Amino acid sequence: MPPRKIIIDTDPGQDDAVAILLALASPELEVLGITTVAGNIPLSLTSLNARKVVEVAERRDIPIYAGCDAPMKQALTTAEHVHGQSGLDGYELPEPALPLQDTHAVDFIIDTLRSAPAGTVTLCPLAPLTNIATALQRAPDIAPRIAEIVLMGGAYFEVGNITPAAEFNIYVDPEAAEIVFGCGAPITVMSLDVTHRLLVTPPRVEAIAALGNRTGEVVAGWIGFFERFDTAKYGSQGAPLHDPSTIAYLLDPTLFTGRHINVEIETRSPLTRGMTVADWWGVSDRPANATFMGDVDAPGFFALLTERLAVLP
Ligand code: BDR
Ligand code: CA
Repeated sequence: MPPRKIIIDTDPGQDDAVAILLALASPELEVLGITTVAGNIPLSLTSLNARKVVEVAERRDIPIYAGCDAPMKQALTTAEHVHGQSGLDGYELPEPALPLQDTHAVDFIIDTLRSAPAGTVTLCPLAPLTNIATALQRAPDIAPRIAEIVLMGGAYFEVGNITPAAEFNIYVDPEAAEIVFGCGAPITVMSLDVTHRLLVTPPRVEAIAALGNRTGEVVAGWIGFFERFDTAKYGSQGAPLHDPSTIAYLLDPTLFTGRHINVEIETRSPLTRGMTVADWWGVSDRPANATFMGDVDAPGFFALLTERLAVLP
């Protein structure tokens, strides 16, 4: 089987960084490019961090494209309180040598989907959906060409993490999320219902730290940093590792279970803006537009992640 072609759209973020490394460690996937967007931190830092992350994997062949620096219709909300001022606090990395590409991320997404055979490119958004929605708005013809959108965002049973009602990636740009969920492409959603089961407990961090390669050391440093905020918030044994769930799904979908349901995005109510209104129980007659994941084999996920990180430098 030829590797599956993916574009990772991201705002690194330690958990984004681990997702990128997992993809780069996996021969089943061909990363065509990494597109950055404003989210956890402003765009200049997400772009800098993406360049640093591919250099951890010693993969300067991966092109990185900077995208939108603000949500479609509102001011940017960031999450330095979780990820630190750099967005990637926890391990000091050198200035990267790899330059950004000149092309805008949105143009790269459009051009790639138009030039590749239809149904061969998968999008993996790990961040607010601004780049993807802007591409869909500017070039609606790309929607039927997308193989699948496997995104991290939203919640049903866990409801919200940045507000009582909304998950961060959707909350930052609800208008973008509304466009993406309405685009008609197959969508798979890694919600907080899944990622809150992927806790980086001390034995799991120790297993990564003990890999003996630099990647293991770097990843353990990142996880150790952002863990402080979430363990204090949730009183759990470790913080949820959100974004790598998307890549793990591409590698082994049997780790996950979910339902093909209708998911709509709340954009009007100030109280619940950014909520993913997921019809888990099938109580509306709205048509299904997404496969919404609700559970995961957490030990299986961490075994896969740890085994793959071991092959990196
Ligand atoms: C999402 O928000 C970001 O802070 C993380 O990187 C992840 O993509 C979790 O709600
Ligand atoms: Ca992210």
